[in-house]
Amino acid sequence: MNKTLIASILTGIGALSTQAIAADAELNLYSARHYQTDEALYSNFTKQTGIKINRIEAKEDELLERIRNEGANSPADVFITVDASRLAKADELGIFAPVKSKVLEERIPANLRAENWYSYSTRARVIVYNKDSVKADDVQTYESLAAPALKGKVCSRSGSHPYNISLGAALVKHNGAEATETWARNVVANFARAPKGGDTDQIKAVAAGECGVTIANTYYLARLMNSDKAEDKAVVAKIGTVWPNQKTWGTHINVSGAGMLKNAPNKGAAVKFLEYLASDEAQTYFANGNNEWPVVASVKVSNPALDTLGKFKADALPVGELANTAAEAQKIYDRAGFR
Ligand SMILES: [Fe+2]
Repeated sequence: MNKTLIASILTGIGALSTQAIAADAELNLYSARHYQTDEALYSNFTKQTGIKINRIEAKEDELLERIRNEGANSPADVFITVDASRLAKADELGIFAPVKSKVLEERIPANLRAENWYSYSTRARVIVYNKDSVKADDVQTYESLAAPALKGKVCSRSGSHPYNISLGAALVKHNGAEATETWARNVVANFARAPKGGDTDQIKAVAAGECGVTIANTYYLARLMNSDKAEDKAVVAKIGTVWPNQKTWGTHINVSGAGMLKNAPNKGAAVKFLEYLASDEAQTYFANGNNEWPVVASVKVSNPALDTLGKFKADALPVGELANTAAEAQKIYDRAGFR
């Protein structure tokens, strides 16, 4: 081989490795999570690794649309969002690539991992009731919300919202499609009003006596419980909380999660970031940012509201499996008039 050829090969290798380094010096994060503590979460990653994070924040659907439109040229490395059925939907679009990582496999429990994405925090969907008008004993399970005794007492956010679809997907898994449809019909028959607003609106309606019972995610409840505002304290004083289904399959949990994108230009950085999110430090930020629980068992956080709510038995169903019955749950709700 002549010197010129060797030199050009070396230059080529040099160029390649510079490119490789340049490629993993940045991370393009498409995020549908927007919490203040996420700032600290991201800047710590940059401090530890030297990898700069370019963050694009938007609603899930917009980000997914963008990733699909960008196709093979998409700069997106990691997609981060909330709700198992949304993560499953993203996965169905074929946008994720599997990540092989010992760190992730060791730190994240198997039921909180799917083939192509990982959960990083959990929240539970609990029953909230008005202590003056409903007895805790009467609302111990999701199934109990369908009881005729609760006629005119139930309020809910839309049945097409992912949180309710994921719950429906769990009900289909545990009780079957037919029982879930009957349940949904009877819950709708118990509505105090047509579904409107978010989980916090339902909790406030329960406190105000507009209805007697609802289902809400724990972080909405924790936000009210941790609040210093007099009006929030008044809401909390009126309500009681039940961990549903403690004697059967456990309380339905949902997750925040993330996955590496198939066309990610910075795959090395993406894996590092996904592993970082499972670190003790990141887990604390991630969970505290939205009053959630870390997925890594050894990580302890102290959150006054969550501590007050106490321990509970969570549904052990793998979150990745909720995807299998999410579409069915949506159809069941539609037929039952839970819109
Ligand atoms: Fe939410």
